Amino acid sequence: MQTPYQLLGEDKIRELAIAFYEAMDELPEAADIRKMHDKDLGPISHTLAEYLIGWMGGPPLYADKKGTVCLTDPHAAYHIGPDETQQWLTCFDKALSKINAPEEVVSMLKGPIAQVARAVQNRDHSNPVDADPNIIAVGRG
Ligand code: HEM
Repeated sequence: MQTPYQLLGEDKIRELAIAFYEAMDELPEAADIRKMHDKDLGPISHTLAEYLIGWMGGPPLYADKKGTVCLTDPHAAYHIGPDETQQWLTCFDKALSKINAPEEVVSMLKGPIAQVARAVQNRDHSNPVDADPNIIAVGRG
């Protein structure tokens, strides 16, 4: 059986990572997670590309640099609940369609990428600003 890396090729995986952050930038429904990221999405697109190349069965570019593929520490500073996880996965779906990924690859990745996203999730609840009980007292809005 061919790996997603073999089916897509390295250039397409790099395109996928760029398309992923473009989707995050464009989709109103990804606004919460967009705010967690830098204005310049160039460097993180490059890092995600290297991560995905290894994860899909290609050379371990990310692991070689970082010494691990564990994503817990790099995400620990961010509040990632179910809504944030869903936003991330929506961007991933959008990116796959932006690069016209073959249906075979889309269905191969669907389960595993959702599993990684659930592993990255570090809160049981999402954190909408409106949930702040002091919202009126502090005069926000
Ligand atoms: C579940 C929702 C997720 C959210 C909200 C999220 C958010 C973030 C944020 C805010 C950063 C830091 C960006 C920066 O340093 O500028 C980050 C880094 C990163 N994320 Fe995620 N992420 C999620 C899931 C994932 C998943 C599923 C993957 C992999 C398939 C992933 C791969 C990465 C990588 C490789 C980095 C860079 C880590 C490093 O600096 O070594 N993330 N993510």
